Amino acid sequence: MYKYHCLNAISKSGLDIFPETYEAQETMEYADAVLVRSASMHEMEFPLCLKAVARAGAGVNNIPLEACAERGIVVFNTPGANANGVKELVIAGMLLASRDIMGGIEWVKAHAGETDVAKRAEKQKKEFAGCEIEGKRLGVIGLGAIGALVANAALHLGMEVYGYDPYLSVDSAWSLSRHIRHVKDVNEIYSQCDYITVHVPASENTKGMIGKDAVQKMKDGAVLLNFARDILVDEQDVMDALENGKLKKYVTDFPNPQTAGKDGVIVIPHLGASTEESEENCAKMAVKEIREYLENGNIRNS
Ligand code: MLT
Repeated sequence: MYKYHCLNAISKSGLDIFPETYEAQETMEYADAVLVRSASMHEMEFPLCLKAVARAGAGVNNIPLEACAERGIVVFNTPGANANGVKELVIAGMLLASRDIMGGIEWVKAHAGETDVAKRAEKQKKEFAGCEIEGKRLGVIGLGAIGALVANAALHLGMEVYGYDPYLSVDSAWSLSRHIRHVKDVNEIYSQCDYITVHVPASENTKGMIGKDAVQKMKDGAVLLNFARDILVDEQDVMDALENGKLKKYVTDFPNPQTAGKDGVIVIPHLGASTEESEENCAKMAVKEIREYLENGNIRNS
């Protein structure tokens, strides 16, 4: 009988192998496997018999990969399991950047209780006018599970979609390319797109990939969206571009002191995968991977 522990996360999955959630280090003492969502395992002491770690999500930056490799601990993630949740929030991000929905809601809140609120709203609403995303061009950098879903959803909303992914499999490229323009040079995304969304893994190679150079090549008034990882974007360069009017908006799912509450930035508190469905999908996939490994010795990142 193996012991599994779930850190700081998923309790609603209905799976009986982790009846409670645990946050404390000492509860993991005898765990054979750890399932973790966003809590950092970097400072954590590994349980002595730990054999596997499953990250209920795509990014593995909260897992000390080298230390795991040194100890022979297998690390799994759950690619694609939360892609729909993230996709929907990216679309919401594009809409929030295009329509002043937040401004309008705040205005109504501030005037709630006034008997003539409806009449005043009619006069006020020109201040919250925006633009539509239909007919605009979206550039998707990274056409993995999330990027591909975003591309498809945008097509259904009547956007023109450019995609860039040098690692795209031939099959995926073929099925996507029939509908989107698959560009070979990322600069084409920068120079041609009204909205640009990044969906690549965070690594030493991708760190700061959207910085001054990239931003300067972007269309004037472009909207940049980052629902992947904050380190992909040099946020100081983006703040400068917002200040001098080069960019219209920066939508990010990663709150940082540099961006939070600043003009032109829409900051969401890392809610991309925070849906009941995504959490359940990730939990189920992670448990399946761990079980398959511990019970049958199979290493399968589903
Ligand atoms: C992921 O890595 O899958 C996403 O950032 C979602 C999350 O961690 O909540």
